[in-house]
Amino acid sequence: MKVVYKVLASLVAAEVAVQAMMVVLGDAGLFKYVEQGGVIDKATAESGGIQFPEFFAFVVHGVNGMMVIPVIALLLLISSFFAKIPGAVKGAALVVLLVVVQVSLGLLGHQIPALGALHGLNALLLFSAAVHAARRGRGAANAEVSDPDRPGARVETVV
Ligand code: HEM
Repeated sequence: MKVVYKVLASLVAAEVAVQAMMVVLGDAGLFKYVEQGGVIDKATAESGGIQFPEFFAFVVHGVNGMMVIPVIALLLLISSFFAKIPGAVKGAALVVLLVVVQVSLGLLGHQIPALGALHGLNALLLFSAAVHAARRGRGAANAEVSDPDRPGARVETVV
């Protein structure tokens, strides 16, 4: 379960990096689209008329942010109860809390653009919390392998 904890925490960190990449990819495509004469207004947005190749990146950001990352974070929290790593539950709970804040800021940013700044900042906090949790998981998993006297440790037999 320690390895599961480590993998899930690493996945959250990797997903935050993907989120940053996707939103900037979409943004760059959007600016190019407008630069080349494309028009964005409420009517075209609602009719699905906005068409530039990088638009998919905004969709990926939304789906990742609202579904994939929250599910991984919840699985991390569940695994933390079984991982038997000191501080694992606190670390996972912090990741879940930061994900909730991140999604809320992302959605509210459409009404209050200033919250977008906090969305960017909170992403860095989330990334740090996930990396910290992953390192804690890796340390515990390595310790379990190298200390065969620990309960549940893997024992390698050399012939
Ligand atoms: C450095 C990382 C990130 C940056 C720069 C970023 C930036 C943005 C921007 C510019 C928007 C508004 C554009 C849009 O609605 O598509 C947005 C929306 C959003 N972001 Fe992020 N984001 C990041 C990470 C995350 C993460 C980690 C999550 C989830 C845990 C997330 C969840 C959301 C959600 C749910 C929305 C609203 C999407 C929608 O209304 O369709 N973002 N983000």
